[in-house]
Amino acid sequence: MEGATEASAGARDTDPGPATGNAPLRVAVAGAGFIGVVHAHAARRAGARLVGVATSSASGAREAAQALGADRGFADAESLVTAPDVEVVHICTPNNLHAPLAHAALVAGKHVICEKPLAVDRDQAAELVRAAGAAGVVATVPFAYRFYPLVREARARVAAGAIGAIRLIHGCYLQDWLATEDDDNWRVDPERGGPSRAFADIGSHWCDLVEFVTGDRLAAVCAEAVTAVPERVSAGDSHAFEERARARTDGVRRAVTTEDIMVVLFRTRRGVAGSVVVSQVSPGRKNRLQFEIAGADATLSFDQEQPELLWIGRRSVSEVVPRDPGHLAAAAARYAVLPPGHPQGYQGCFDAFVADTYEAIQAGGAATVDGLPTFADGARAADITAAVLRSSRTNAWEDVP
Ligand SMILES: NC(=O)c1ccc[n+]([C@@H]2O[C@H](COP(=O)([O-])OP(=O)(O)OC[C@H]3O[C@@H](n4cnc5c(N)ncnc54)[C@H](O)[C@@H]3O)[C@@H](O)[C@H]2O)c1
Repeated sequence: MEGATEASAGARDTDPGPATGNAPLRVAVAGAGFIGVVHAHAARRAGARLVGVATSSASGAREAAQALGADRGFADAESLVTAPDVEVVHICTPNNLHAPLAHAALVAGKHVICEKPLAVDRDQAAELVRAAGAAGVVATVPFAYRFYPLVREARARVAAGAIGAIRLIHGCYLQDWLATEDDDNWRVDPERGGPSRAFADIGSHWCDLVEFVTGDRLAAVCAEAVTAVPERVSAGDSHAFEERARARTDGVRRAVTTEDIMVVLFRTRRGVAGSVVVSQVSPGRKNRLQFEIAGADATLSFDQEQPELLWIGRRSVSEVVPRDPGHLAAAAARYAVLPPGHPQGYQGCFDAFVADTYEAIQAGGAATVDGLPTFADGARAADITAAVLRSSRTNAWEDVP
């Protein structure tokens, strides 16, 4: 049945048989927009065989398969996630499809990489954690910023006590690609994007990163949601960050019900105060994920747009630490794949994340690789998002489980 729905890319064989020994993992990518392409490149760099891709149409899948060098295009994502010759499924579709596709893939016994947000509500996310455990497979979520070498360096320094007891955590995640009423994307539609937009989409990355680096957890939040652009002119099925979205408008103005901005105060389990400002409407800010962690002895500051540098602030002399593997903790140096002065970046994070996921698959479990973000981390993000949304509606502090 699956063979009948395939849209052949006119390429290689379609059924290489069951996986054996050290043969390349056979992977497939559902969704070939901005991040699906990043996943496909990372999969190939990690030595996998790209068996197929799916998009919102069979013809789109065929084109994407050709462009990405995949064996074939699938007629739909549902047949991709259950295809007998696929071992690892990457889910890179709009958010509302994550849970059903991931669930179908798990039931079919596939290893799954599912984009964030893992699900559009916390019950679905918890169910996916349960299903992944029952399936006994590796199931990860691309909180890929964890894979910058200098994020690992920050984490190693905090763990070693190098900055002292943490006193304050703050930062932001700012973008501008939805700044005007002519900017639109499926993320704005709660049916496809979920009830939280800016926070679930990018705030979740910030919280994951800060919890990862500090080893502490957000315990309570107080949030203010702002919809700064109350109406948007629909741009159909445009891709993220796509300037052409404006040219594709159907001219229909729609009311916006999801937040453009989320401002969050928080308190951690260890009693540390903090704040984060999340925005998709901040002109000039493209992808500014920045955090600052002040300890009793030193402060760490990291900016995703300058990922080759980590600022260490001190009362005496502050310093900027470059990504030089010869002078990093072993856990950080592991991710420095180029010599210092030869910049690594965003795609490199995905390459490392996907390579680590595949390594965990070969080694027999996610726990075999330090720092791998799993479905449990995806569910954790769903818990934080639910508390933030609740607080923005109740105007009160809300506990995070
Ligand atoms: N981890 C990260 O850093 C990161 C970065 C960007 C996006 N994302 C996540 O990745 C997902 C995709 O985001 P994007 O920016 O690539 O979006 P996009 O709009 O650029 O691409 C979406 C893709 O999904 C396909 N699609 C839509 N409906 C489909 C269906 N029914 N079946 C199969 N394919 C379908 C589209 O054809 C398109 O190829 C989102 O969940 C987003 O949150 C994560």
